[in-house]
Amino acid sequence: MAFDRKPWAEPYRIKVVEPLKTTTREHRLAAIRQAGWNTFLLHSDDVYIDLLTDSGTNAMSDGQWSRMMVGDEAYAGSRSFYRLEEVCRKYYGYKYIMPTHQGRGAENLLSKCMIRPGQYVAGNMYFTTTRQHQELAGGTFVDVIIDEANNSFSDYPFKGNIDIEKYERLIGEKGAENIAYITVGAPVNMAGGQPVSMENMRAVSELSHRHGIKVVLDATRNIENAYFIQQREPGYAERSIEEINREFCSYSDAATVSAKKDLYVNIGGLVMCNDGELYDQLRSLVVVYEGMPTYGGLAGRDMEAMAEGLIEAVQDDMIASRVRQVEYFGNLLHEAGIPIVTPIGGHGVFLDAKRFYDHLPQDQFPAQKLAGDLYVESGVRGMERGIVSAGRNKETGDHYYPELELVRLTVPRRVYTQAHFDVAAYYIIEMYKNRHNARGLRMVYEPQFLRFFQARFEEL
Ligand code: F0G
Repeated sequence: MAFDRKPWAEPYRIKVVEPLKTTTREHRLAAIRQAGWNTFLLHSDDVYIDLLTDSGTNAMSDGQWSRMMVGDEAYAGSRSFYRLEEVCRKYYGYKYIMPTHQGRGAENLLSKCMIRPGQYVAGNMYFTTTRQHQELAGGTFVDVIIDEANNSFSDYPFKGNIDIEKYERLIGEKGAENIAYITVGAPVNMAGGQPVSMENMRAVSELSHRHGIKVVLDATRNIENAYFIQQREPGYAERSIEEINREFCSYSDAATVSAKKDLYVNIGGLVMCNDGELYDQLRSLVVVYEGMPTYGGLAGRDMEAMAEGLIEAVQDDMIASRVRQVEYFGNLLHEAGIPIVTPIGGHGVFLDAKRFYDHLPQDQFPAQKLAGDLYVESGVRGMERGIVSAGRNKETGDHYYPELELVRLTVPRRVYTQAHFDVAAYYIIEMYKNRHNARGLRMVYEPQFLRFFQARFEEL
């Protein structure tokens, strides 16, 4: 076999394994019907390769497991908190660090502290829980992402960027005092894991601060974003991930993090900021929702695992192998002509259900159905990221009809091997050949909040 470029390999070997179970197609068809065609409602025992999410599904290292044994479980003033604080200060650079039980815990606190009812929050495409907390705090989210983000086959290298003109227009129309803050997600989950450039982040920061608007970073997958900057942005090829990440964070005033991603843990979150007044507000609220500011809903051992996970996460070889595994999977599909979002993102491969099931209208939930069909055919579990995830406009009550109607095949960190992705790709390629036999769905149960988690469907 000839190599067209130098191969890469994981910077670790496997010490503990967990058996996988295969099931029959009949069993899976019954299971998905039982689950109302919602992959969130499947039992994980019925799943073969689980690409539902990269959230909390990571494999921890022996270093992390050993740190868990020395976790300090004190109710207040835990030594494990101070260690986490020190590591977060070093790698993210914010002054104040507060753990939360997971990302949405951080979003809840920050939204409550920073949004006055009636204000707008700008951002680069919504994220489900982030927008939900902004709305519950009385805010209205306004998307100011660049148009390329909505084009699944645009090869623009930084499709997560903020459109500076759109943002400036929003400031002009609404007035800076009516904008609570801008939230920058990097990379943008709902756009397919697409990164934000350093140049764009700098411009967003400059414009926001000129108008007295705060910049809040959703730094959940920031290390992946740093990798894309290193690979794609002029001037960063020789800079370490650690340096790039810190520089990126330095343009923001505060950040929320779901530690269940970049930090290689199964649970945890962070809210961080530089402003003492904001920190005081967060500190008074955290005891209502999460716990003492020195544990925020986590056990001492969880904070130890997070600290160790962050140290591992910023190693250049670790993040490179993570993103390149995703790229490997994406390339198998792309080269076979399967419609996916390109460039391939940082945390998963996104099937374009509008093009895959081009015979189904969006209100028949093509991505929801494709995720269900993929499960039935292969036992591989992905999730819908389209009209169901987008929810309804809170004023009109209508569905949002997002441009992107996607099935996300998310790659847990350090969990699966390339062979698992060969198998997943094989089934998707087979399904693509018979794609026009698929029928759509109708929604038969819709929860009030974040409907994609628990909605139920029937086949048409
Ligand atoms: N922000 C982003 C960009 C996320 O992807 C998530 C979670 C959160 C915030 C919320 O964090 O789950 O710890 O409360 N994303 C998961 C996913 C659920 O599957 O993409 P959380």
